[in-house]
Amino acid sequence: ISHDLKNPFNSIMGLSNFLYEKIEKYDKETISNYAQHIYEASRNSYKLLQNLLEWSRAQMGQISFAPETHNLANLIDNATASSYNQAEAKNIKFKFDVDYTAEIYADYNMVSTIIRNLTSNAIKFSPKGQIIEFLAKNTDTSTVISIKDNGKGMSKKIQDKLFKISEKISTPGTENEKGTGLGLLLCKEFTEAHKGKIHVDSEEGKGSIFTIELPLK
Ligand SMILES: Nc1ncnc2c1ncn2[C@@H]1O[C@H](COP(=O)(O)OP(=O)(O)OP(=O)(O)O)[C@@H](O)[C@H]1O
Ligand SMILES: [Mg+2]
Repeated sequence: ISHDLKNPFNSIMGLSNFLYEKIEKYDKETISNYAQHIYEASRNSYKLLQNLLEWSRAQMGQISFAPETHNLANLIDNATASSYNQAEAKNIKFKFDVDYTAEIYADYNMVSTIIRNLTSNAIKFSPKGQIIEFLAKNTDTSTVISIKDNGKGMSKKIQDKLFKISEKISTPGTENEKGTGLGLLLCKEFTEAHKGKIHVDSEEGKGSIFTIELPLK
């Protein structure tokens, strides 16, 4: 993990240093290129930091589980909004099929973190121009949220290793986006705090669906 954090910071420091010391020497295109790299490196390290902080707080028992009733559609809107930039960079569109009258009984921050991570993965492992679908509704017993992508998918062997800290795996995205393999561990931990379930359905080359089921109040 320290490499995952140090590498983007090295790019950020190196490139921004170049820019302010030698900006007259570069044409607009080079400058724009550097700025894009700086932006992407900071976005990646910010996401990693967000997960690291939450994970360490969870490990120290500092995250209190505070479920309340929320409007399901609202929660999903807010949780996905932070991924618009990441999606736009790959020209990926979101499609929502959410029961806007449904309510969810959940810890707002935890569920937002779950959705943020699943959305970020869906974008990361989808080629440019794809669509990501969000489905959310209540059944008689639970709130079901699924996030479906048409991206690279995973073999059964990899699926069996997800959600296990002993098998922590991370592969780069379709544009070589790097990660640390913390995201799904957080998703599992936070789902279980709700006494809920998380599972994946995926086929290599076709795409993946991640579903969380949280019991109703
Ligand atoms: N939607 C998906 N499509 C294909 N593979 C996926 C998908 N989501 C997860 N994976 C696989 O599971 C691995 C673990 O995912 P996880 O979110 O835990 O870590 P990460 O995305 O690699 O890193 P981080 O979330 O810490 O930035 C990924 O690296 C990838 O190999
Ligand atoms: Mg991830």
